[in-house]
Formats: sequence, C-alpha cells, structure tokens
Amino acid sequence: NVLILDFGSQYTQLIARRVRELNIFCEIKPFNKPPDDLSEYKAVILSGSPHSVRAEDAPHPDLSNIKGKKPLLGVCYGAQYLAHFNGGNVEKSNTREYGRANLAKIQKEDPFLNKIGVGSQVWMSHADTIKSLPENSTLLASTHDVENAAFKFIGEDTYGIQFHPEVYHSTDGKQILENFLVNIAKVEQTWTPAAFVETTVAELKAKIGDEKVILGLSGGVDSSVAAVLLNKAIGDNLHCIFVNNGLLRKNEFEDVLHQYKDMGLNVKGVDASARFLDALEGESDPEKKRKIIGRVFIEVFDDEAHKVENAKWLAQGTIYPDVIESVSATGGPSATIKSHHNVGGLPDFMKLKVVEPLKMLFKDEVRRVGKSMGLEPNLLGRHPFPGPGLAIRILGDITREKVAILQEVDHIFIQGLKEWGLYDQVWQAGAMLLPVNSVGVMGDERTYEKCVALRAVESTDGMTADWVNLPYAFLQKTSNDIINKVPGVNRVVYDISSKPPATIEWE
Ligand code: XMP
Repeated sequence: NVLILDFGSQYTQLIARRVRELNIFCEIKPFNKPPDDLSEYKAVILSGSPHSVRAEDAPHPDLSNIKGKKPLLGVCYGAQYLAHFNGGNVEKSNTREYGRANLAKIQKEDPFLNKIGVGSQVWMSHADTIKSLPENSTLLASTHDVENAAFKFIGEDTYGIQFHPEVYHSTDGKQILENFLVNIAKVEQTWTPAAFVETTVAELKAKIGDEKVILGLSGGVDSSVAAVLLNKAIGDNLHCIFVNNGLLRKNEFEDVLHQYKDMGLNVKGVDASARFLDALEGESDPEKKRKIIGRVFIEVFDDEAHKVENAKWLAQGTIYPDVIESVSATGGPSATIKSHHNVGGLPDFMKLKVVEPLKMLFKDEVRRVGKSMGLEPNLLGRHPFPGPGLAIRILGDITREKVAILQEVDHIFIQGLKEWGLYDQVWQAGAMLLPVNSVGVMGDERTYEKCVALRAVESTDGMTADWVNLPYAFLQKTSNDIINKVPGVNRVVYDISSKPPATIEWE
C-alpha cells in the first residue's frame, strides 16, 4: 500500500491512477489529515500544490515520521517542500516553466532513473523553482531551464522531482514511478482486478453474512459491477431493484432487465413510468424537474425496499472520486442518493447499513473489475446517462408524446453510432428535443414541426468536453433517417459547443 499526501494539486488523482496502473494499491489523504498508523504504507508520495512553500499559509506538515524512515517521493510542490525545509533554497522562477521539457543531464547510476534516457520528455507546471539543493543531497537530473529537476537525499530513499510524472505528457513518468515504487521501495505489484474481486468477495461475505442487501440498479456500469460483486458474495440475498422512470432510452428497461436476469442477478423491475410522468406534468424548470424525479425515485424505491422483508443493508455503487476528501472542500464523503433527498424525515431504506464495494476504485478500474468477472462489453462500455434521463433532454415541459418522439430520435442516433463503429469513440451522445417549431416542406405541404439537436462529446470525466467531429456522411444519413422516420420532427441540428463554456446537457 502506498500513501499519497495531497497538497491540493489538480493532478493528485492522476498520481493515484498511474500508481494503480502499476498494479499497486494506493490511497490519497489530505496533507493535514495523515493516517495515524503509517505501518501499512510501504512508500509515501507528496503531491503538487497551487501554493508556494514560501507562503506562511502553505501546507507545512510534519514529515518526521516519514522522511528517512520510508521511501519518500516529492513531486513538484512536494519536492520544493523537501528542499525548502532541509536547507535548500526555493524562489520564484524567472523563466517560464510550464509545459514540455526534456531531461538534459541524467545521473544514470541511480536506480531512480533506471531506463530513462537523455531527452526524455517531462511535464513542468510550477511558478517556484529550487535554486539550490537541500543539504546532504545530490543532483540526479536537469532540463534546459530547470537545473534541479530531480534530486536525492544521500543515504536515504528520499527523492524530489520538479516535473509531474503522473501526467501523460511525461512520457517516462510511469517508468519513474515504477523505479521508485518497485525497484527502490520494493512494493509488490499485486493489485489486480482478479485479486480485488477475490478479497472483496471474501470481505463482503464476512461483513454481511446471511443478511439481506438491497441495491438500486440503474443500467450503468457502477451499479452493475457492484451488483455482480455482491451477487458473487451473497447470491440471492442481494435484492436488486431496477426502476423504470419512463424517461429511459427506447427499449432500455426491457433490454437491460433481461440482461440482468441473464447474469443471474436477483432483480425486480418496477415500471413506475406513470408515477414519474404524472408528477412532472406541466413543469418546465430544469432544477424542479430534477427534484421531482429525485423525490419520486425515493418514494418508489422505499415502497419496493419495504417489500424485501428484514433487509439490513443498502448497497451503493459509489466510486473513489466521490469519496476522496479533497484538500479544499469542506464536506466529507457524500452518497449521490442522499443529495436527491430534500423533504421530510429519512425514508426507511436510508436507515439501513451502507455497503459500497467499489468505493476504492476509479472508473477505469471498475470497468476492469467488471471485465474480469465476465460482464458483457456492451454493458461495460455504455455511455454515461443522466439519472433524470430524457427529462433534461426535453427542454421545457414533459409529455408522453414528447418522450416517445425523443426516444425514437435518440434510438436512430445511438444505433447509427454503433453501426458505423463510432460508439466507442464517443464518450457520451444523445439528442435534445427543442422547444421550438420550425417551418419545413414535405411533399407539397408546408410543415411546422419540432427541431432536435444531436450532441456527441469526447471527455474523460465529464468535467470538460469537446464535440466530436462525426463524419458528414454519418450526420447526413442520421438526419435523413430521423426526419423520414420520426413523425413530428422536420429539422435536425448538430451541437458544436465545447464544455466549458457550454455544458454537455442542455438543461
Ligand atoms: P453537464 O451537462 O453538467 O453534464 O456538462 C456533465 C455530466 O453529468 C451528467 N448529468 C447528470 N447526471 N443527474 C445525473 O445523474 C443529473 O441531474 C445530471 N445532469 C447532468 C451529464 O449527462 C454528463 O455526463
């Protein structure tokens, strides 16, 4: 196990992901809340930070239990921190030190730079620079602009690097992390999907015993993988509930329910479409629509949960990015389902004990774990789909007729992406039904019908996104199909806005 102390860098999660890619387990902890017991950690990494070590209010944690006692790597701010408090000199840099640089001088004998050659590209992002090295240390590498790009304390496994090995632009970054963690710290590379499944299933068995667990399936990757893991551990004592809110994609409810049953899950499909659509009638405010859907979901889920007698646990597909305590944020971990809850007392299912088998995994790890348990690629590769579903893609108020139109449009678009082999290149795609009618001609008649917007984006986490350059031939065929096959639609547009400043959804 490796400990990453977070000083608030935007790249801290990337460090963790790179370490996990080496099949090494690691945890991120805020610098001001380090674990009491350090004995289980084989190595420690200090992250970057937006602060300057010279500032009074910058993170200045006590490392006396770590430095010289365990292998320690400081990245960027972490390296400056090690230098500043051990007799080195850190100052504002007077040359621009952002972006690509290349290692110019390398001290090859040190195992830290094993297999790293002169010219290796590294990524710099810092305003301060280490002007002189700390006492009792030796220089390992420089770039053209940064003399002290990598250094080591003599006689201990403590290293500092000014560049960011976790960023993909540092082409040998993963090798450097491997050199540090595997060759120097001797951490074992045993964190594999199969090992995760084995230990998690054993833990779930021990924790839950023969008690009953309730889990809400959404059709998405996280809840599906959580369900399969729990099913392996406790079999039919896992009671899954899959709710149709009437705002899913065409045929989604039936298809996915069928797929879940084929996977051997004990799942109950609940068609509550009418309840949701009735509650939404006449509402066009986006946030109010979301609130209504959240409230009705909780009511429906609570009704169904009561039908499972003597349930003791509520399982959730929470993943690691949801629970990492960030240095700047004040709140602790929060479960998605709770944020929807805004009225009255707690529904009964929320008083159950909570089990979250994926809460230490990143999204790509969830997929790998799912794959190792044999989940279908079509389930694991699904685009994200918002909880409120088509309700936030129908701008304005929602009627059954509008839902039916949008389901047809969306179906043609998504099926087309799959048939053209484009689906997996796109991070998320969907169609928006706009609250405008426009004039068209069909045959001899003028029409006055609806306009739909297609949206397809590339992204890694949904925080930023760019529109996908779909082939014109594909757009042409899709547009024709939609207008010819979906009554009520006479115009199709393609959204070419990036996020920011636009968002992925239109509401
Ligand atoms: P935006 O529109 O904010 O979307 O760029 C970013 C990602 O979040 C999804 N999204 C939602 N998911 N409930 C959800 O479960 C919501 O209310 C919601 N709004 C947006 C969106 O689909 C995209 O993946």
